[in-house]
Amino acid sequence: MPEAVTYAKGLEGVVAGESRICRIDGQNGKLYYLGYPIEELAASSDFEETTYLLLYGELPDNRQMASFSERMRSSRDLSEPVLAMIRAFPRVAHPMELLQSVISYLSGYVEHRIHHSATCNCRDTLHQGAQVATVLAAWHRFREGLEHVPPRPDLGHGANLLYMLRGEEPEEYEGRIMDTALVLHAEHGFNASTFTARVVASTMSTCYCSISAAMGALYGSLHGGANERVMKAVEEIGSAANVKRFLDNELDRAHKIMGMGHRIYKAKDPRAVVMEKFLEELSGRKNDYRYLEILKELERDFRARMEEKGKPLYPNVDFFSGAVYSLLGIPAILFTPIFAAARVSGWLAHILEQRVDNRLYRPASIYTGAEERHYVQIEKR
Ligand SMILES: CC(C)(COP(=O)(O)OP(=O)(O)OC[C@H]1O[C@@H](n2cnc3c(N)ncnc32)[C@H](O)[C@@H]1OP(=O)(O)O)[C@@H](O)C(=O)NCCC(=O)NCCS
Repeated sequence: MPEAVTYAKGLEGVVAGESRICRIDGQNGKLYYLGYPIEELAASSDFEETTYLLLYGELPDNRQMASFSERMRSSRDLSEPVLAMIRAFPRVAHPMELLQSVISYLSGYVEHRIHHSATCNCRDTLHQGAQVATVLAAWHRFREGLEHVPPRPDLGHGANLLYMLRGEEPEEYEGRIMDTALVLHAEHGFNASTFTARVVASTMSTCYCSISAAMGALYGSLHGGANERVMKAVEEIGSAANVKRFLDNELDRAHKIMGMGHRIYKAKDPRAVVMEKFLEELSGRKNDYRYLEILKELERDFRARMEEKGKPLYPNVDFFSGAVYSLLGIPAILFTPIFAAARVSGWLAHILEQRVDNRLYRPASIYTGAEERHYVQIEKR
């Protein structure tokens, strides 16, 4: 390795590219998409408009929004062969494995050959983004022995997802909360799955292959999946009165508390602030405060203990999101697929950006293997 090159395990602290899509100010707990604070997008935008912003770099005007929304909504439904594939997918497999396979499969069900080419415009393969929600909803219903509920073009993306899962139109506030949760998860810089998408795109592979690879990266428990583990802890704790004993046990065994801490945020994750408000709203509307009480006590007690040790740690987005999804009636196995249904917009944006000024990703490694040695015939080994 040349002397000037430094080694950073896991590429920590390594700047691997330039991007104008997302800015994270971890010290102050700020997140921006294309310069817009996440709080403003959460309050005023929706998933379709945020997807437009990520893909085109600017907020749309009325005409642009209407045509984009029409394109996204009309590409939500799945063709019969794709539905048949979902129906036939082994029940024991995880829906993230299904999503990874379906994305590759979808590339065979598009009209224009251009979609198969490495130079295709991801803005033309919007159906990939729109259909992830439909795939996960169809998988859920088939698993429950129910029929597929075709998407409703008159509903926003979040409301439609709940509709396809339940077969009934959700309340207005449920659709709004689901949609905003998708906005909050749509983009987050050079995280592992986005970096994966960019690495694959940098080889001039297709955007289907890039998205499918990103799905694989998101599936891992160190990336997606922490909110599922938060909810396991909440179920185990059972009531706010048991939080102290739970923390005594976990911290004595040097276990990490799920949903707490972040590699980049050294303040409360701004997405967790929005999710906490949603949890409060849902708890009130459904008159079910159990999750909220446990999580608030867990946050208070954990943060107090960590402050005492001089390690200030704050909730990340996953701390409250699992409880929000649970109160919306969504089973834990769908939490990571829902993350994927949102992050697909960020992945597409990054693939587009990668292609504008492409350079193949090809890092070096330090060789730790054997010195040169010589081949011995098998009968002499
Ligand atoms: C996200 C995470 C991997 C970041 O880890 P990190 O970059 O090593 O975090 P920090 O360097 O800020 O950690 C500072 C200290 O707090 C501890 N710490 C961090 N998160 C902790 C947690 N959730 N529970 C208990 N201790 C924690 C670290 O072990 C470290 O202790 P040390 O100084 O004695 O070694 C880690 O916080 C974690 O595992 N959190 C739980 C999983 C989770 O919620 N993941 C979703 C992320 S969006």
